[in-house]
Amino acid sequence: MTIPFWVGTSWKMNKTLGEAADYCAVLHDAELLRDPRLQGFVIPPFTALSEVCRALADSPVMVGAQNMHWADAGAYTGEVSPLMVRDCGADIVELGHSERRESFNETDVAINRKVKAALAKGLRPLICVGETAEERALGAAADSVLRQCRIALGGVSAEDLERVLIAYEPVWAIGEHGTPATAEDAGWMHRRLREALPTTGQGEPLPVLYGGSVNPDNCAALAALPEVAGLFIGRSAWRPEGLLRIAERALEVRRPLA
Ligand code: PGA
Repeated sequence: MTIPFWVGTSWKMNKTLGEAADYCAVLHDAELLRDPRLQGFVIPPFTALSEVCRALADSPVMVGAQNMHWADAGAYTGEVSPLMVRDCGADIVELGHSERRESFNETDVAINRKVKAALAKGLRPLICVGETAEERALGAAADSVLRQCRIALGGVSAEDLERVLIAYEPVWAIGEHGTPATAEDAGWMHRRLREALPTTGQGEPLPVLYGGSVNPDNCAALAALPEVAGLFIGRSAWRPEGLLRIAERALEVRRPLA
């Protein structure tokens, strides 16, 4: 069985419907993303979610939401439920991004509720974890990241773990003020995660993607790390050519098709 290498992007709070349609048109026609060694995905804002799902429905590219509430419905003004995310046609839901933890007070316990709700609704949670610069400076990077993982995954069955994706995204590496992690730094944490995380019911390690200032120059070194199961990209993939360029370079350094 070929385990594909994940390459995807969150658009964060960017793109109108027209911009989203232009982006999807390029992805839809990209032969590269039909390569079984790759699994592409796009995570648009809610306003474009159903349009993007529709535009990519007959392509292998998966689509995700950037967040959701854990309840099916209710008096939660401004929130979006797992049922609504499913109804749009999404496969993935990104949970616990550091911007949500930092700017919207999202806690590990809330993320755990969302992870369980996502799995119950047949969605694939993409759980973002990462240490802050302060935690790293204090020698607590692995403790912080593993704590986030343990709480997010609490109560998830071995069978459900098969649908879980983790993204290791050091907070200090994210965004325009971030410092890209070196392959050594990323590799070190990915090995800690490989040792500590539970395996799936099939005995497979959980796929852990790397994110944080991934760009066309550093993507090959990151993709070459055996424990890195994919790349989760922000700014460098906000144009479809950027995503495709990184996907192409990642493919070059990954093992040939089994
Ligand atoms: P960036 O964003 O690639 O722009 O640093 C990554 C992320 O927030 O997932």
